[in-house]
Order: sequence, then C-alpha cells, then structure tokens
Amino acid sequence: MLNLPFTGNPLDYGGGLSASRLHPVYAWLGMRPVVAQHTAEEHSALGRWATGRSSIVEIGVAEGVSAIALRQRMSEDGTLYLIDPFHLSRIPVFNFTKRAAHRAVGSVTRGKTVWIQNFSSKTSQSWNKPIDLLLIDGDHSEEGVRLDWAEWSPFVVPGGIVIFHDARLFEGGWTTPDNGPVKLVDDLFRRQMIPGWEIVEEIHSLVVVKRSGLLA
Ligand SMILES: C[S@@+](CC[C@H](N)C(=O)[O-])C[C@H]1O[C@@H](n2cnc3c(N)ncnc32)[C@H](O)[C@@H]1O
Repeated sequence: MLNLPFTGNPLDYGGGLSASRLHPVYAWLGMRPVVAQHTAEEHSALGRWATGRSSIVEIGVAEGVSAIALRQRMSEDGTLYLIDPFHLSRIPVFNFTKRAAHRAVGSVTRGKTVWIQNFSSKTSQSWNKPIDLLLIDGDHSEEGVRLDWAEWSPFVVPGGIVIFHDARLFEGGWTTPDNGPVKLVDDLFRRQMIPGWEIVEEIHSLVVVKRSGLLA
C-alpha cells in the first residue's frame, strides 16, 4: 500500500494515520479520510474499467474506497451493487465501518447504489441480473474466492469484466503465493487458461479478466 501522509482528502492510503486514528469512527465523523486498501495505480485502474459501465457489483466494500473509484466513472444511469456483511465490527450496533462507507460512497452522486448487507454467497442465491463489471474483494480464503468466482461469474455478460484484488505478486507489494486470490488466478487463467476468459490487465495486485464476446 502507498505510504502517504494525512492530506485531508476525502480518501487516503492510511500510511500517515496513527493506529488510534485508524478506527472507522474517525472516518464516519469526517475526522480522517476513508482508508484505501489498494494503491493509487489500482484506484485509477478501477475507475478506468468502470467507465461507462451500468451494472457493477462489488463484493467486499470495507470503508468504500474502491466503490468510490467505481462510482465516479460508471454510467450516469447505472447501478452499483455493494455487497458486504460488515460483520467484523467490534460493536455491531454502531458498525462504524458501514457508516463510514455509506458516508464516503454517498459523497459521490453519479449513478445509483444498492447496498446489500450480506455475505456474497447468500446474495448469489437470489441474484438474477446481468453484470458488466464484477469486483471480487471479499472473502480472501482460497475457498471463498473460488466460491465467488463460481457463483458470480456466470452473471457477467459477454465482453464484461471481472477484477480480482490481492491476486498477484508485485515488487514491494503485500501479496504472497499462498493468498487465495493469487492461487485462484494462477490456476484458472495461467494454468488452465479456461476458455472464454482472458487476462486483459495486471497492475500491482489487481488482475482484470474479460469474458469473450461483445458487450450486449
Ligand atoms: C479487503 S476488504 C475490501 C476492501 C475494499 N474493496 C476497499 O476498497 O477498501 C474485504 C471486505 O470484504 C468483506 N467480506 C468478507 N467476507 C465477505 C463475503 N463472504 N461476502 C462479502 N463481503 C465479505 C469484509 O467485511 C471486508 O469489508
């Protein structure tokens, strides 16, 4: 992750914040920016791939920084579905991560958002909408990321995109060969080369794969 000082910008990369200030209550109160769990280069790639897309699903929202990147560039009449159980809060009744995320993503007015406070595998059971961009950044266990791929990729339209975060090694990065997303991407797209999908971009820990065919 980038090691930037606190700048007062609406989003930041966490490096300049003391541990006590990292608590999400400070983001919800507007006393610190929301903390990105990705690099600036990844942030701009997310925005680039979201440009003009109208049915976007993000699995794993946290404080909402990648959701901001997607929302800023999506189609004006599109919908961004944000799936996260927000189950890690120490005081569930307050759930400041969820509040901080709602506040941060709500500060962007482009398109529409639909919040789904649930696990991705529960949500997939009743899902029936086409997706033109899917960001997988939720459960990072190998089993979890495999399940997300199996359950959600069938909804991605021809020409649509799936982006995996924390899915490749890069110089100075935080990922390791035994991380679930790294193993899944290596297996499906480098070893098996599953038909109908190809890697179209790799930047830092992000791997972008495209379903063949024209966007409907
Ligand atoms: C690495 S963080 C996501 C970072 C986020 N994309 C950002 O922009 O900062 C992982 C998130 O996934 C959520 N999560 C964990 N398991 C999940 C699941 N099965 N379905 C959906 N979200 C999940 C966690 O609550 C956490 O907020």
